[in-house]
Amino acid sequence: ETHDMAGAVLLPGFVDLHTHLREPGREDTETVATGSAAAARGGYTAVFAMANTQPPQDNQTVTDSVWRIGRSVGLCDIHPVGAVTVGLKGEQLTEMGQMASGEARVRVFSDDGMCVYDPLVMRRALEYSAGLGVLIAQHAEEPRLTKGAVAHEGPTAARLGLTGWPRSAEESIVARDAILARDAGARVHICHASTTGTVELLKWAKAQGISITAEVTPHHLLLDDTRLETYDGVYRVNPPLREAHDTLALRDALVSGVIDCVATDHAPHAAQEKCCEFAAARPGMLGLETALPIVAALLVESGEMSWRDLARVMSTRPAEIAGLTDQGRPIEVGEPANLAVVDPDSPWTVVGEELASLSANTPYQGMTFAARVVGTVYRGRMTSRDGEVLA
Ligand code: DOR
Ligand code: ZN
Ligand code: ZN
Repeated sequence: ETHDMAGAVLLPGFVDLHTHLREPGREDTETVATGSAAAARGGYTAVFAMANTQPPQDNQTVTDSVWRIGRSVGLCDIHPVGAVTVGLKGEQLTEMGQMASGEARVRVFSDDGMCVYDPLVMRRALEYSAGLGVLIAQHAEEPRLTKGAVAHEGPTAARLGLTGWPRSAEESIVARDAILARDAGARVHICHASTTGTVELLKWAKAQGISITAEVTPHHLLLDDTRLETYDGVYRVNPPLREAHDTLALRDALVSGVIDCVATDHAPHAAQEKCCEFAAARPGMLGLETALPIVAALLVESGEMSWRDLARVMSTRPAEIAGLTDQGRPIEVGEPANLAVVDPDSPWTVVGEELASLSANTPYQGMTFAARVVGTVYRGRMTSRDGEVLA
């Protein structure tokens, strides 16, 4: 039975600045096609595909190839994120200029899964990016503070005997990069902000006039580290789930604009990579198909945000940050539309195996949410309807 759209809310198509598709390299866990299908079901019409593929997206051949596959799948715009350094943990900067002027027109660069750690490399990358007018998105993690760490450093990790990942590992890099961006005259974007302290640093940096933006994931808004008591590997993620006060600070920051937008950090993994004991599981969780219901539950149903605010944090603001020209402004009459249609009151229960993603590692298994995406329109064509992907 098709939804008659009664009571539905019409929003601009969502833009995800942070998705991991696993093509090339791990097509057994996600491909551009299956990730695009997950995006369509989630109300997304543009996703930024992170650089830590195998091989990494560190040259124009790879970025143009991912972009072309996205075009041929045709379910949403797939914007490859370029790697900042050669080989993901290198010191040598990539040819960002070539990737930016290639067919894919790469607008965002990151070494996700690996912080651009060396301050000299980060400084040079920021200077280069400022000249090109592109954005560096930083996975903020001081690796010397996270060696062997699998969980947020705090009472839960201590009780469970898990090696802790301190807040300072994130905050020290956020502070450093704000200052490096200021001095380079560059913009910097902080991926998956996860702590109260990061929120304070973003407030400070923005008050100084530094060009800094930040995203937060649905899982860092909703979940805290008490989930780890089951030792279920599905809850392992980088940065780790923090404490309840962090989730509240992140929600407030998103409402006030200190954090600019929501990004999923959609990270598919094979079942055997997540089923093992907590410390052996791969970090990362699915996000594209569950982002809207979570943000709606936490912020719209609670009365803290309007639907207009939700459209800002899930569509127009991320489009603006990435420099998408066709989505950072209201839709014009006569343009091919990118839209998400949401039923605010159509409860559904998450079942990992039923998701369009090739993987099933959702931390929301069995949870029921009130809001659901009932339709997605991409470039004037319906790409999903009532949870069904329309090829
Ligand atoms: O949890 C994570 N998963 N964090 C990252 O930084 C990388 C990502 C992945 O690629 O699976
Ligand atoms: Zn990351
Ligand atoms: Zn990521």
